[in-house]
Amino acid sequence: MLPASLLQAAADTYGTPLYTYDLAELDAALGRVRAAFGDARVYYAMKANPNLTLLRHLHARGVGFDCVSLGEVSRAEHVGARGEHIVINGPAKSAGEYEAGARLGATFIVDREEEVALLPAGARALVRVNPALDISTHDHLATGSTASKFGVTLEQAPRVLQALRDAGHVALGLHVHIGSAIRDAQDFTAAYARLEALRPHTGPLAVLDAGGGWGLGADLPGIAREARKAADVFGAELWVEPGRYLVALSGTLLTRVIGTKRTGRNFCLVDAGMTELIRPMMYGAEHPVTALWDRPAGEGETWDVAGPACESGDILARNQPLADPQRGDLIAVGEAGAYGASMSSPYLTRSRPAEALWDGQAWQLIRRRETPQDLWAAEE
Ligand code: LLP
Repeated sequence: MLPASLLQAAADTYGTPLYTYDLAELDAALGRVRAAFGDARVYYAMKANPNLTLLRHLHARGVGFDCVSLGEVSRAEHVGARGEHIVINGPAKSAGEYEAGARLGATFIVDREEEVALLPAGARALVRVNPALDISTHDHLATGSTASKFGVTLEQAPRVLQALRDAGHVALGLHVHIGSAIRDAQDFTAAYARLEALRPHTGPLAVLDAGGGWGLGADLPGIAREARKAADVFGAELWVEPGRYLVALSGTLLTRVIGTKRTGRNFCLVDAGMTELIRPMMYGAEHPVTALWDRPAGEGETWDVAGPACESGDILARNQPLADPQRGDLIAVGEAGAYGASMSSPYLTRSRPAEALWDGQAWQLIRRRETPQDLWAAEE
C-alpha cells in the first residue's frame, strides 16, 4: 500500500469515497505474470477493472484484452486494440458482440455447440471446456463445475472443434477457465489433466487458453508449469486471461468515517459501502482494513465497518480493531483494484466514486466522480 500521507493527499484533493491505484504495483504484478508464463500471450480480463487509463497502460505493454460484453469490446477498440489482441468470452453473446468481434478480427471463445452457427464467417475460435470438477472457491465464482453454465463437456469438445472446421471457421484450439479466486492450485492441475486426456480425440492444436482465476497468493510459477505442460501436449501456443491477479493489489478504496454508534455492537459508519465495494456482501470477501490515523486504541475494542446504504448487509468488514475512530478519519480498504470500481453501482442514486492513479510522481484523476445528473441523464 502507498504511504498514508500520499493517500491522505489524494482523499483531500478528490474527496471520498475514492479508488486509488498504484501504477508500480500493477507493473509488478504484470512482471510476475511474465516471469512465470514466459512468452504466453496475456489477455487481461477487463471485467476486473476496465478503467481506460489502466487499459491504455496494459495495451502499451503488449497485453491483449478478454472482453465479455459489447461495452468491453468497445473499450478495447477505443484504446487501440485490434485483431489478435482481443478475445470475446461469454455464454450468451449478443448479435452486437459478434458484429464488433468480426469487424475487429477478434477471437471468439465458443461456449456451446449451437454457437458455431452464429459465428461470423471464417471466425477464429477456441472451444471452452468445462472439466466438471469441484473448485475450491465461493460457489458464485466456480465455473469449471457441473453446476456451472459455462463451457461444453469434455465429451462434446472434439465434436465442437470439428463442427467449427466443417463450418469454415478457424478452430484454434481449447479454452478452460475454472473459476476465480481459486484457493488450491491442484484445481488447475486437475483441470489441465482432463484436457490433456482429449489429445487423442483432437489432434494437435494451435492454441491452449488456460484462463485466469489465480488467487492473490497463488503459486504462479507452479500454475504456469502445469499450463505449459498441457499446451505442450497439444503442441499449442499458451494463452492466459488473468483479471484479479493483475490489478487487485494496485487498488485501495479510501473512505472517511462519518461517525460511530454503540448499540451492543460497535459500528464505525463510513462513506463507502456495498455500492462502492460489493465483494464482502456478495462473496463474503475479506478485504484488509487499515486505519490511516495514529491514536491509542481502546482496550480490545473492535468495530464493524458499515456503509451508508439502507441495507442491513451493507457491512465492509466485521470486528476490526480500529483505534477510537472519529468523524473525518480516513480508512483504507485494500486489495480493491479488482472487481471494486468495476462492480460499483448507482443503486440509491449514489454517484460512483472518483478514481485516482499514483504514477510514481503525482496523482492523476483517471475517472471523475459521477454527479446525480450523470445518473439520470438517460431518463430525460
Ligand atoms: N476469463 C474468464 C472467461 C472469466 O470469466 C474470468 C472471470 C477471468 C478470465 C478472470 O478471472 P480472474 O483472473 O479475475 O479470477 N466478481 C467476482 C469475480 C468474477 C470473475 C468472473 N470471471 C469477484 O469479485 O471476485
